[in-house]
Amino acid sequence: MTATKGLEGIVAATSSISSIVDGVLTYRGINIDELAEKATFEEVAYLLWHGKLPTRKELDELIAQLGEYAAVSPEVIAGLRLYPKNANSMAALRTVVSSLALYDEEAQDMSREANLRKAVKLQAQLPTVVAAFARIRQGLEPVAPKKGVGVAHNFLYMLTGEEPDPVAVKALDKALVLHADHELNASTFASRVTVATLSDIYSGVTSAIGTLKGPLHGGANEAVMVMLDEIKTLDNVEPYIQNKLNNKEKIMGFGHRVYKNGDPRAKHLQQMSRQLSELKGDSTLYEISVKIEELVTGQKGLKPNVDFYSASCYTLLGIPRDLFTPIFAISRVSGWTAHILEQLDDNRLIRPRAEYVGPVGQHYVPIEQRG
Ligand code: COA
Repeated sequence: MTATKGLEGIVAATSSISSIVDGVLTYRGINIDELAEKATFEEVAYLLWHGKLPTRKELDELIAQLGEYAAVSPEVIAGLRLYPKNANSMAALRTVVSSLALYDEEAQDMSREANLRKAVKLQAQLPTVVAAFARIRQGLEPVAPKKGVGVAHNFLYMLTGEEPDPVAVKALDKALVLHADHELNASTFASRVTVATLSDIYSGVTSAIGTLKGPLHGGANEAVMVMLDEIKTLDNVEPYIQNKLNNKEKIMGFGHRVYKNGDPRAKHLQQMSRQLSELKGDSTLYEISVKIEELVTGQKGLKPNVDFYSASCYTLLGIPRDLFTPIFAISRVSGWTAHILEQLDDNRLIRPRAEYVGPVGQHYVPIEQRG
């Protein structure tokens, strides 16, 4: 038995949800470029769960159902008030999503209908708890969700307590479309491993959130913003990046396990970052980002991934840095739950083997004889 470090190149499941072939990402066979231009996030979530785009009636029903489920129980909000105000926002999200199960009577119901309903509930409730914790930690009261609006609109509304600008809603909606699913990424794999033991969907999504949190995965978008904040000015880009490259440090937002010739999602976020800069009349962040890309791609051949231009986009939308990765989760929960449903439709315990490289032939030594 020989291990493959990081399971690189290992095909660990069959899936009909999303695919990456020759650098092209599709959701249910539809190119992400087409979905980014034409689809709303709710259409994409429906597509991931059901394998087809919704009719007008099905879409209206889904939006109504999301509105129905978006409010969380008062105990969940009371729990959020007990968290330390300076808690890491992904740690808070991981904890609160786990707690959602405690207040859902059908949390342990493993029927397909109940699991599909819980997928929609999780999709509806993640934005509510992310926005509620963001407000509570600022000493503000949470804002109750609206009915009849999309996920992006509702999230921005709950975050600020004000009707969001349609441009901001459209931009966030597109970012949600681009982050919704991504084949067998680390957090999706974690969610499938968890439910393959026949544990419940909340456990699967909690595992996924813990996995997404890391800076090699979803946490990279926040790490990119830390870097942009440290760089501050265009003149500082070159010495800052050169120093990191000389010290063999990783530049966050670059490189990818699967895409070696560029992440197809990055160009959409770059375009959005440029447009938002133009609207704001301040292109500093965008220009800094472009210069970083020129240097990193020029010197290392590494291309930006989905997280690189997300950072400037979210900042230009007025979203604080520590909400970047929770926003990734708000989108990716659609993909996680689609994968959980798919796993449970044809389940087998996921239990690989390890190549043992430790000592052999050892014996128990009584404690008084140990050095
Ligand atoms: N900055 C600098 N060097 C990088 C790099 C980066 N962002 N990403 C990869 N490399 C280098 C590695 O140092 C390694 O070089 P070496 O062979 O000289 O040791 C080589 O490229 C291969 O990288 P490796 O980390 O083994 O690739 P991986 O497939 O295991 O990792 C990522 C993929 C995404 C984890 C990795 O590219 C990374 O850490 N990127 C930054 C974090 C990030 O943006 N994550 C979000 C992914 S969507």
